[in-house]
Amino acid sequence: MSRLTPEDIILGRRVIVCAGSGGVGKTTTATAIALAAARSGRRVLALTVDPSKRLAETLGVDRNLPRPVPVPAETLKKAGITDPSLLEAWMLDPGVVADAFVHRFAESPELAARLTKNRIYKQVSRMIAGMQEYTAMEALYGFLREERYDLIVLDTPPSRNALDFLYGPSRLSNFLDGRIFQLFLPGEKRGLFRRATSRLVNGVNAAVFGRETYEELQEFFTSFADIFKRMTKNASAGLQALRDPDDVAFVLVTSPATEAMTDALFFRRKCIELELPFAGFVLNRSQAGDDDRTVPPDELFGSQPSAVEQSALGKLQQLALFEQAAVVRDQERLTHLAENSGDDAFALALPQLPGGAEKMEALVHLGQVLMRSHSQ
Ligand SMILES: Nc1ncnc2c1ncn2[C@@H]1O[C@H](COP(=O)(O)OP(=O)(O)OP(=O)(O)O)[C@@H](O)[C@H]1O
Ligand SMILES: [Mg+2]
Repeated sequence: MSRLTPEDIILGRRVIVCAGSGGVGKTTTATAIALAAARSGRRVLALTVDPSKRLAETLGVDRNLPRPVPVPAETLKKAGITDPSLLEAWMLDPGVVADAFVHRFAESPELAARLTKNRIYKQVSRMIAGMQEYTAMEALYGFLREERYDLIVLDTPPSRNALDFLYGPSRLSNFLDGRIFQLFLPGEKRGLFRRATSRLVNGVNAAVFGRETYEELQEFFTSFADIFKRMTKNASAGLQALRDPDDVAFVLVTSPATEAMTDALFFRRKCIELELPFAGFVLNRSQAGDDDRTVPPDELFGSQPSAVEQSALGKLQQLALFEQAAVVRDQERLTHLAENSGDDAFALALPQLPGGAEKMEALVHLGQVLMRSHSQ
């Protein structure tokens, strides 16, 4: 099988997931990919659960809106995109999606309204481990079925651990199946002994939490048992949809830092274990391509440099040697990624841009690098 290129996935897949450990450039890469795809004429949704302001500012889109919005025509023009229908963005607030879900699945609008006001729900829907990841999955799955976009680029949340995103749904189902959860469910259908223990549990809970809080807790757990079950089922369907190699590509972003590299390689093994279609590594903020750096020659300031020139030259040479070492290090890291990417996936470098990567020109440039690049 021949190696995939970023161009193949940018033009050919329906979902690209950018994952990686914290701060490596997931949001930057996802945005660059979204822009490159829209510049190629695809209808794109940039979906992020990243609460940072950065992507919103760059794209001129507010955060926490209840649905995706078109990126303003002015912003698109700066990116060389003239058709304003080609790029939408949604900065996902996990709470907003969870509420939408409750409204969709609750038995009645009144119940939905009551539940979304429940204090326990308000806390828990934002705090349950995996809920944020689940909501991204839920939204993604919905959009996939709607077929409104040619490509959805999913930027995963900042996390200390690159795997959090994937473990989201299963952690959620662990919570649902957990004994603590069961403790709060009413026990009418249980046997005599269970009813008795249930009464005991209720009494203890009421004493521990206070009557009012306990009632709210119980309302929360009772009403949500059903909704959560459906959520879990949907999450598994979403996870299943993410397994289709014709539709989906996981791009693993890393920086040249050792810990990020270790995470990236570990994450790739997990992708394989979970049967998720790994497409390739992006070594971001890399200097691997800067191999034209030369060390200033001894005679830079002529044959008789002044003391100041001599000292400046020494510093310049030192700096150049340091930079050359960084270039070699990044080239070795890129080779290491390529050797560990399998036969059909790519490993490529995105340059460290001296002026940062937050401006539109920088993001378009990174997108162009991706479109042109082939794995080493
Ligand atoms: N290739 C690059 N050149 C220069 N600066 C970059 C590059 N890539 C990313 N940056 C900068 O690094 C910072 C972190 O990047 P980004 O927000 O994309 O990382 P992230 O992985 O999404 O972080 P988090 O895990 O917090 O969500 C940003 O300020 C971004 O502009
Ligand atoms: Mg981010």
